[in-house]
Amino acid sequence: MATMESLIGLVNRIQRACTVLGDYGGDSALPTLWESLPSVVVVGGQSSGKSSVLESIVGRDFLPRGSGIVTRRPLVLQLHKTEQGLQEYAEFLHLPKKRFSDFSLVRKEIQDETDRLTGKSKQISPVPIHLSIYSPNVVNLTLIDLPGLTKVAVEGQAESIVQDIENMVRSYVEKPNCIILAITPANQDIATSDAIKISREVDPTGERTFGVLTKLDLMDKGTNALEVLEGRSYRLQHPWVGIVNRSQADINKNMDMIAARQREREFFVTNPDYGHLASKMGSEYLAKLLSKHLESVIKARIPGIASLINKNINELEAELNYLGRPVAIDSGAQLYTILELCRAFDRIFKEHLDGGRPGGAR
Ligand code: GDP
Ligand code: NA
Ligand code: MG
Repeated sequence: MATMESLIGLVNRIQRACTVLGDYGGDSALPTLWESLPSVVVVGGQSSGKSSVLESIVGRDFLPRGSGIVTRRPLVLQLHKTEQGLQEYAEFLHLPKKRFSDFSLVRKEIQDETDRLTGKSKQISPVPIHLSIYSPNVVNLTLIDLPGLTKVAVEGQAESIVQDIENMVRSYVEKPNCIILAITPANQDIATSDAIKISREVDPTGERTFGVLTKLDLMDKGTNALEVLEGRSYRLQHPWVGIVNRSQADINKNMDMIAARQREREFFVTNPDYGHLASKMGSEYLAKLLSKHLESVIKARIPGIASLINKNINELEAELNYLGRPVAIDSGAQLYTILELCRAFDRIFKEHLDGGRPGGAR
């Protein structure tokens, strides 16, 4: 529905505007507003395929991937759907006004920006990198890529790294607005899944956890993952989704996203074990499932978000009056942007309430 899409789009833009504003706004309702907006976080063991899954959802190649600890800072990725025909581009919060249309340069900038804080080491940092992608081919979503959970520190890492990563992951997934993509590789016992362990802890009923089973292509011959995929091993409220990402050899050969998706589809359709589930497997299905879920979450929260936004409008107006109208200073201009977005949300929300009732009577 068009209205729902524009509401989700606005929520996304308000979220981004709050990010740009940073910690400004002390007692305003902005932090509460940010907390009430949903985002999707990928969680799992190191090299379980988290970055690969995120890339597939976006449908573009732009994330550093590989064996070992590659993702060393959180990446907060905002997808903004733009009108058909418009050029796709990416923008970093730390490089405002610089538009990237070459996505291999986006990957390089993520690597460089990671190294800027941590050095070319195996250290991690909890300071997130913020990236926005504007494209007609994405759904409005905020996705967060995190370093993988590990069991032991390796050469060059402090002993505390195991606990540091776990704390960092927990700080994201414990928020009730967080939708968890629990990434578990199929060639490993689900009972040992780090992703499931932590998601069970913060979301015991499984209402905001999506189980994602990667590496189905790497299972031992003669075995299959039906027990997990059909929800008998570990039941969640949402169905498990099986995935086949690119292998390291595919990455080395530069296999592109289109070829990878095609091969993933063929894997499910032609596999005698999974043929009956084919329409509910794969990265494209996962992306649709997530955006549908997000839509229903926002729909359910819209009255709450709307009243928070209303509160924001009042506070922002007072704040701007105090500052003296759209002022040149950055935070003033940013508050003004947020105010405009909030007003747009409020207007569409009210139209939405009135819609479907003859004459808009209530
Ligand atoms: P992360 O550390 O959890 O972010 O995992 P990455 O996405 O960086 O992937 C780690 C390694 O596993 C890379 O070499 C990927 O190519 C490989 N990989 C990820 N998913 C799959 C999969 O479904 N099948 C195969 N064969 N390899 C995969
Ligand atoms: Na990795
Ligand atoms: Mg990664």
